[in-house]
Amino acid sequence: HDAVEVIRTKRDGGRLSDSMVDWVVAAYTRGDVADEQMSALAMAILLNGMDREEISRWTAAMIASGERMDFSALSRPTADKHSTGGVGDKITLPLAPLVAACGVAVPQLSGRGLGHTGGTLDKLEAIPGWRASLTNDELLAQLEDVGAVVCAAGDGLAPADKKLYALRDVTGTVEAIPLIASSIMSKKIAEGTGALVLDVKVGTGAFMKDEASARELAETMVALGQDAGVHTVALLTDMSTPLGLTAGNGLEVRESVEVLAGGGPADVVELTVALAREMLAGAGRGDVDPAEALADGRAMDVWRRMVAAQGGDPDAPLATARETHVVAAPASGVLTRLDAMAVGLAAWRLGAGRARKEDPVQAAAGVEWHARPGEEVTEGQPLLTLHTDEPERFERALAALDGGVDVAPSGTAYDATPLVLDRIG
Ligand code: URA
Repeated sequence: HDAVEVIRTKRDGGRLSDSMVDWVVAAYTRGDVADEQMSALAMAILLNGMDREEISRWTAAMIASGERMDFSALSRPTADKHSTGGVGDKITLPLAPLVAACGVAVPQLSGRGLGHTGGTLDKLEAIPGWRASLTNDELLAQLEDVGAVVCAAGDGLAPADKKLYALRDVTGTVEAIPLIASSIMSKKIAEGTGALVLDVKVGTGAFMKDEASARELAETMVALGQDAGVHTVALLTDMSTPLGLTAGNGLEVRESVEVLAGGGPADVVELTVALAREMLAGAGRGDVDPAEALADGRAMDVWRRMVAAQGGDPDAPLATARETHVVAAPASGVLTRLDAMAVGLAAWRLGAGRARKEDPVQAAAGVEWHARPGEEVTEGQPLLTLHTDEPERFERALAALDGGVDVAPSGTAYDATPLVLDRIG
């Protein structure tokens, strides 16, 4: 094959044969297909799509570009979760120890935040001493001993995806469902988990703003997982409102610990337990009730061991921001909207997220909100508290929040969107 032949085939609406897919992915990873050729192909895929067999083959080729992990020697089954990214989405923090406390090992290879959605590793790094990098041997040992690991994915998993994702990012080709689905699933299948639950977000703060495209992404990923022999289901969940009451790194650790202590915001508890049930069922342990392990402190015990195993001190105080700024409720009445994208952008601008991959994040920066949609507020009461170490950031954070909050007259009916919209799989 040659690259121009493959590009022309997809440009003209044809389908890529198995051997074309295998060749182009391997040759791109080696450097024999140039970036400009792969970006032309990615654009042709964005415009003309791929069918299920093409996507499956593309995913397999990306997996074959690197190593595959193997957890078959563990004494417990494995289950993992992937979220397509949301605001205030700290669910991995309570979920991984909760599922481990129920007897299923959780190898959660996570990423860092870029843009308005936070990254799980950035959140955990707010804990003094905690480190994200583990060798494969350390990962396996911790999975056997503690049952839960949240760590950075090594460079060996799906290197083709690493290179292609960076290229898509700068060529306007991220938003192609076949490419998103194969990118996510190649990493999760190569990771070697036995069961996988996908939390596909829908709404203003999500990658997929409308339910139809979120559903298409979820169905594509579930099919890829099943084709690869991974027990895969997806929940479509609302991301028009941020999760919980905080967005930021240390702020979300604090809220997660509240959930592990048996308290915390109801929506965070609901989603954590719903995803835990799916992970346990996928791993063949659907008989275990995760709500009990959350209530009786077993999940908290695993959390403390999980943090300590990676050098963190679960008792160390979390950093607090040098400066805070309170935003008052603009009127009295019912809070009818707190926009997830506005809150996510504000947290990002306060220093919780980064603009470029290599930028540092602030452990203590972020946004706290003191009411959730559906609740009554009084004019002038604190509605949001902004946290940052750099007060010059307040102005841009406030601009991001502009138009993101609606208060309707007292007594206005509020029609809450369900958090879990559907289940696919
Ligand atoms: N996340 C990924 O890992 N890959 C994509 O293509 C999009 C989101």
